[in-house]
Amino acid sequence: MAEARVVHTVDRRLGSRRLAGLLTGTVGERPGYRALAHGVRTLLLDGRIPLHTRLPAERELASALAVSRATVTAAYDVLREGGYARSRRGAGTWTELPQGQRPSNVAAFPAGDDVLDLAIAAPGAPEAELRAALAAAGGMLAEHAPTPGYHPYGIPELRSAVAERFTRRGLPTLPDQVLITTGAQHALSLTLSLLGRQGDRVLVENPSYPNALDAIRGAGLRAVPVPVTEDGWDCGLVESSLRQAAPRLAYLVPDFQNPTGCLMPHEQRLRILETARATGTWLLIDETITDIALDGPPPAPFASLAAHGVGEQIVTFGSLSKSHWGGLRIGWVRAGSGLITELATKRVPSDMATPVIEQLVALHLLRGMDDVLRERLPRLRAQRDALAASLARHLPEWRWRVPPGGLSLWVDLGRPVASALARAALAQGVRIEGGSRFGADPGTHEHRLRIPYTLLPPQADEAVLRLSKTLTGDLTPTPADTTRRHWVA
Ligand SMILES: Cc1ncc(COP(=O)(O)O)c(C=O)c1O
Repeated sequence: MAEARVVHTVDRRLGSRRLAGLLTGTVGERPGYRALAHGVRTLLLDGRIPLHTRLPAERELASALAVSRATVTAAYDVLREGGYARSRRGAGTWTELPQGQRPSNVAAFPAGDDVLDLAIAAPGAPEAELRAALAAAGGMLAEHAPTPGYHPYGIPELRSAVAERFTRRGLPTLPDQVLITTGAQHALSLTLSLLGRQGDRVLVENPSYPNALDAIRGAGLRAVPVPVTEDGWDCGLVESSLRQAAPRLAYLVPDFQNPTGCLMPHEQRLRILETARATGTWLLIDETITDIALDGPPPAPFASLAAHGVGEQIVTFGSLSKSHWGGLRIGWVRAGSGLITELATKRVPSDMATPVIEQLVALHLLRGMDDVLRERLPRLRAQRDALAASLARHLPEWRWRVPPGGLSLWVDLGRPVASALARAALAQGVRIEGGSRFGADPGTHEHRLRIPYTLLPPQADEAVLRLSKTLTGDLTPTPADTTRRHWVA
């Protein structure tokens, strides 16, 4: 198992003015030392200050905050005592997290009838459409059965259908620019294995999709986290991280980001594109959730902003897992045709090709996609509202923002008890992961839970009720639990 702690190579420094700005709202105007330590700890735990960042010199921070130097010294002492900072004599003070334990393998959890699953943010299949697609796929078998059935690039019909869909969405695409994969996760890990070399830097969002972070760690790449809050991306920080770290790759989920649900504004996309171009960074754009646009039209493909895409270093991933069903395991990569050839060559030693029958089913599902979404999106919108209503009823002290799309709420518990709560929830028959599972640095986001609205409203309400019961027990904030993990999606 790869080491959970991401190694950072960038010498990150936090200026006193920037820290003072970040602290606005978390501490009073002239913070006492405990309030100051608490503010820094909160920023660290929710990812707005990355791990291993050098904090400002005491004298500078004291002046930026208009407090005495003794106040800052005492606050840094408190942070050190709690394990949230580390100092080297004469060199400075860096953010740190209390030592957690190494992660174990995915916890095998016996799913019972009464267990409500909030660890997976993915909908069930549209059954009638799936049956019809299966029947239609059966009708096409006569064409495929006489052939060997190995298609490392994907069957030509599906490559064309995916290319057409990109073209209709505003990104002209040829079938040669599409590789069919076994889900978007496969598309990402394959691309990482082709483009990333051990030790390369990858800019990642913090928090982010855990299986992507695990793939990045597993490939021996070094994460450069940039925070995403419910206000979205700090674009200036993304740009400066790109410039300072010049990472080889950047992994972004601009559409209904998992887990925050944020949608990246057009203008930020342009800025990031421009900066990545200047730093030679490959943009790995994960559009797995793009179709789950609940409050407006689905966003155009990110790569469509790179007007004359020739030579652009943009790789786009997508899949049918959120629009249709994760059980299909059908995804794709869209990139330049040369890169697609390299990816197809690379995938052969591991899985040869994606199963033909699933691809034929996907072909029919893609053709009827707009009908499926017309039914699916209003239902998800209603489930989103129902979950928000259940939370307001049973857990009024929790806070969240309703995202414009995606499949979950990113809920602020107000105190760092998510791991303890997730443990207690298991005893109540609810499978859920604490926010730290989504942190680029394990141990952050301990005050958050990602709660999907993929359950039907009565079950979701029951799950929230059970979560509320965990709060009646003793939930002592503890360092994030990285030893027991559910698998998440
Ligand atoms: C952002 C993101 N990327 C990738 C995936 C994995 O998708 P797939 O099932 O197509 O492998 C998910 C699934 O939850 C996701 O949310």
